[in-house]
Amino acid sequence: MSSRDPPPLLPPLDESPTDEVSHLVHLAPPSRRPKKKPSELSLASNSSRSLTLDRDGNPMTKVGEVPIDLLQSLYLSNPTTGGTPPSSRPTTPAQHEQVLQHHQSHSLAHARSRSADSAVSEFAAWPRSVVHSSRQTFPPVKRLAVKDRKRILVTGGAGFVGSHLVDRLMCLGHDVVVLDNFFSGSKLSISHWGGHPNFELVRADVVETFMVEVDQIYHLACPASPKAYQHNAVKTLKTNFMGTMNMLGLAKRVKARFLLSSTSEIYGSPEEHPQKETYWGNVNCVGPRACYDEGKRVAEALTYGYHRQDNVDVRVARIFNCYGPRMNSSDGRLVSNFIVAALRGEDLQIYGDGTATRSLMFVHDLVTGLIKLMSSSYTDPVNIGTEDEATVAEWATLIRDKVEEMRDRGEIALCVASDDEDGEEEVLGEGEGEEEQEDKLVLAGLERPRGRRSEIVYVDAVVDDPPRRRPDTTRAKEVLGWKPTYSIEAGIEETIRYFSAIESESASY
Ligand SMILES: NC(=O)c1ccc[n+]([C@@H]2O[C@H](COP(=O)([O-])OP(=O)(O)OC[C@H]3O[C@@H](n4cnc5c(N)ncnc54)[C@H](O)[C@@H]3O)[C@@H](O)[C@H]2O)c1
Repeated sequence: MSSRDPPPLLPPLDESPTDEVSHLVHLAPPSRRPKKKPSELSLASNSSRSLTLDRDGNPMTKVGEVPIDLLQSLYLSNPTTGGTPPSSRPTTPAQHEQVLQHHQSHSLAHARSRSADSAVSEFAAWPRSVVHSSRQTFPPVKRLAVKDRKRILVTGGAGFVGSHLVDRLMCLGHDVVVLDNFFSGSKLSISHWGGHPNFELVRADVVETFMVEVDQIYHLACPASPKAYQHNAVKTLKTNFMGTMNMLGLAKRVKARFLLSSTSEIYGSPEEHPQKETYWGNVNCVGPRACYDEGKRVAEALTYGYHRQDNVDVRVARIFNCYGPRMNSSDGRLVSNFIVAALRGEDLQIYGDGTATRSLMFVHDLVTGLIKLMSSSYTDPVNIGTEDEATVAEWATLIRDKVEEMRDRGEIALCVASDDEDGEEEVLGEGEGEEEQEDKLVLAGLERPRGRRSEIVYVDAVVDDPPRRRPDTTRAKEVLGWKPTYSIEAGIEETIRYFSAIESESASY
């Protein structure tokens, strides 16, 4: 393992970039740690934090048709608007209590307490008049006329993407059935809908046949992280082949529209850049990733087989890297790995030399794209992703520095120790040995070193890791009218807030 500085950021936009890098998004150099104390920054940052800005710098109030506050409240309590950050570091029991309350006010959303007050009026709390359920705390859903309400099956609906899709479909007023075997997903991610009259959760495996009367099937069931899908390669292949065949058979029987969540991995190590839907790919069919890459390729082949032979109404989304709240913090995906390491003060590990590129998309944008594709009449594959391409080293630097910036603003969990003798604030980890740091953390009521500045370190490359990834999204723009709305900053900050809440909660148990 070697530790060295990451490659320099790309040239600023006002310099003329070479052809080789001109397509890459320039990640603005992350702002340096502010000289001001957190207490001086807290007011300004708190007011700007209440808004989520889109790519044009305009405040976002809705995602699709759903109020953004409502969506956020399903995974983070009191999102972005509530709670005043403590103005200084805790050194007394009273200050610790204040910090605890602050973190509780920014904690994860749990099913017991959710009721998003800020939803617009058409999203009325369920139920309004006749009481069909003893629960009063369901998130609000839109009231749809029966003719507009769809019965929708989401396979893999307890996973990262699936749970956000379920949230959106539920908020829009549809009847949703989730089928999941919880291999890489969790009941917790959708537990806020448990008992809602529009919602059903079925523990089942797509490899087995399943019968249900539905109008639409979003077929997402398949572990998506390399760690998870390589855990049992044969099962991953069965899930992709037999699972997709079962769901297509169901779609054929009940005449449901079928959407396959395919992946950019079907392009393999691409010889064409950016990747258009017409590119056939360059996949190693015997390598350790083949179970996923070839599994998804056969799933696409099956989908078009049922379409041509049996007139099944199909949609295929080729999804590029996506990130956001509810990613599994231990499944080894890039964004969650970097954020969690930075929050814990651990080193950010890059596999290879850091020059591989990735284009990252925030999960709410992906869900909007999936719903638009399902509602469209377009049956050929559509890339869904962003053109925000940057090297893995640049993503690591951006994420680490963003975590530090948010800590300095007092917006996420503690990273500073008690005042020194001069009354000056002192960042934990600066110029100290590990023992000293840990002593101070214990004094500050924390158990592990959170204030250490993370280094970026390089470890051996992973076999068949694709060197470049960027979608050509012309088709999505033209046929769906879809383009990503979340800025890099808004998406990364939201995800950091979520993982910070997870870390705070786990530290308090
Ligand atoms: N997240 C991304 O960046 C990304 C990128 C490209 C494609 N995709 C695709 O999107 C879909 C969802 O991805 P994700 O990131 O939410 O992954 P995830 O692993 O978080 O979710 C997958 C879900 O499917 C369930 N599942 C797995 N095998 C199953 C089986 N045999 N029967 C029933 N349920 C099963 C899991 O328990 C989990 O809830 C996957 O099909 C994936 O290939 C995701």
